[in-house]
Amino acid sequence: HIYADSKAASTAVAREIADLIREKQKENKPCVLGLATGSSPKTVYAELVRMHREEGLSFRNVVSFNLDEYYPMEPDSIYSYHRFMKEQLFDLVDIPEGNYLLPDGTIPVSQIQEHSRAYEAKIAAAGGLDFQLLGIGGNGHVGFNEPGSLINARTRLIALDHSTRAAAAMEFGGLAQVPRKAITLGIAPILNAKRIVLLAWGERKASVIRGAVEGPVTERNPASYLQAHPNVTFVIDERAASEL
Ligand code: GLP
Repeated sequence: HIYADSKAASTAVAREIADLIREKQKENKPCVLGLATGSSPKTVYAELVRMHREEGLSFRNVVSFNLDEYYPMEPDSIYSYHRFMKEQLFDLVDIPEGNYLLPDGTIPVSQIQEHSRAYEAKIAAAGGLDFQLLGIGGNGHVGFNEPGSLINARTRLIALDHSTRAAAAMEFGGLAQVPRKAITLGIAPILNAKRIVLLAWGERKASVIRGAVEGPVTERNPASYLQAHPNVTFVIDERAASEL
């Protein structure tokens, strides 16, 4: 779906998420969301917060699992995705504490494999992801599944690409400060979500979007794996669509 701008697109995505939350509320069921960080989803979260404040949208039945976290990373660091999610969404709505999870960037390396397995098990125990929100890296990464990630990749510790670290350098105040690793939900559990929406704004995403949508399914552009999903929509603005 191509929108004139990211604001119109984000409003439509927030409405879909809000409708799903309300539908699950009527059925007395939890709404299990897979959430993303980066700049792209910020406008979606802002619209959800507005709906909470002005329309009484409640998040009491929402259970959420974020895609990724830098490693190592303390949750209260200003650079952490924990902090990002609290500031953009969780602290601004009525989601119960304990209902939202992110990978833990503080555990010892020796425990990451077990932590990753347990993270996926928690998603399964919650009934699976009803809705997965995604951004896309300039190199096609989803979550932090960098190029080279396989379609059956599980949740794991991954070494970040140079281009990914370079893109984050400004935020961190220099390349040297950007962590070299992250824990990311794998491609396989992402593809297990019942519904997936990927967001992309601006010209700098145009060529990777073209590859993901019109190119071959390839580990060189992990977002292309989404072509194998039965219920996925790329919600993009005109500039990100300019090479389609
Ligand atoms: C980071 C995140 C990704 C995100 C990507 C793009 O690498 N881990 O989940 O999709 O950045 O970010 P942005 O939306 O700021 O372009």
